[in-house]
Amino acid sequence: MLEVKKAVIPVAGFGTRFLPATKATPKEMMPIVDKPIIQYIVEEAVSAGIETIIFVTGRHKRAIEDHFDYAPDLEYALEKSGKEELLKIIREISDMANFVYIRQKEQLGLGHAILTAERVVGNEPFAVLLGDELIINPVNPGIGQLIEIYKKFGKSVIGTTEVPKEEVYKYGIIDGAKIEDGVRLVNYLVEKPEPHEAPSTSAIIGRYVLTPSIFDALKRTPFGKGGELQLTDALMMLRKEEAIYAKDIEGRRFDTGNKYGYLEAIVNFALTREDTKDYMKQLITNLVKEIESQSEV
Ligand code: G1P
Repeated sequence: MLEVKKAVIPVAGFGTRFLPATKATPKEMMPIVDKPIIQYIVEEAVSAGIETIIFVTGRHKRAIEDHFDYAPDLEYALEKSGKEELLKIIREISDMANFVYIRQKEQLGLGHAILTAERVVGNEPFAVLLGDELIINPVNPGIGQLIEIYKKFGKSVIGTTEVPKEEVYKYGIIDGAKIEDGVRLVNYLVEKPEPHEAPSTSAIIGRYVLTPSIFDALKRTPFGKGGELQLTDALMMLRKEEAIYAKDIEGRRFDTGNKYGYLEAIVNFALTREDTKDYMKQLITNLVKEIESQSEV
């Protein structure tokens, strides 16, 4: 069985939910404390054994390429001023993996973004990580949990989690038969159903391991929800030809694709990181006191 060594990360989207911040800056570069979201995603992939990161990118995304490249002028300045610690952090970013960039010339949906990567992926299984979801599991990275299941069955694996019924319309929803704890054999998938159409509350959360047969399925898939080529629809097509598994991902999940999830991630990281946690606790305590005393006046 071929190992999963490549990951596709689609980053061509506009980020309209974060305008005006994303007018000239990619949404993937927005920081959680002091690290851009996209770096957390790449780190998750690398810690699960991924060696090549394939970004499917678009216009105005140059900052992502620069972030994962060497920065000789910055490195020189850091070296000269003796900032060894920072220099190390900066160098490590570009040495983490091989980075490949493909331009998605038209934005025709997630399925289309994955299809754009076909020639670079070739005939081997690959991971997909979507930048809108941060999954934090220091022991067992989210995508690594799917790779483990792939190693067992040699078929595609979709990362899932339970969501409230009223939120199913935001996600691809799967239904399947339980085969072991947290793992199901998928028998149905639907992209962003209304609550009354949803077969379950098991939502796809932006992590996949796919066999290369997904490319052929994508080519046969008609455009779906929102007039876009949907990966979920192609998986439904593929499911008629080969088995697909779903795995509930263990870890803390932040939906950084919307303002509330993004704020939650920042506060959470600031409250747990060694260098910021004391400051952040104090800050929140003081702010709450201040607001309470104002409302008493
Ligand atoms: C995409 C997928 C959807 C999945 C979601 C997870 O939708 O199409 O199936 O549940 O990512 O974040 P998007 O949120 O990009 O519209």
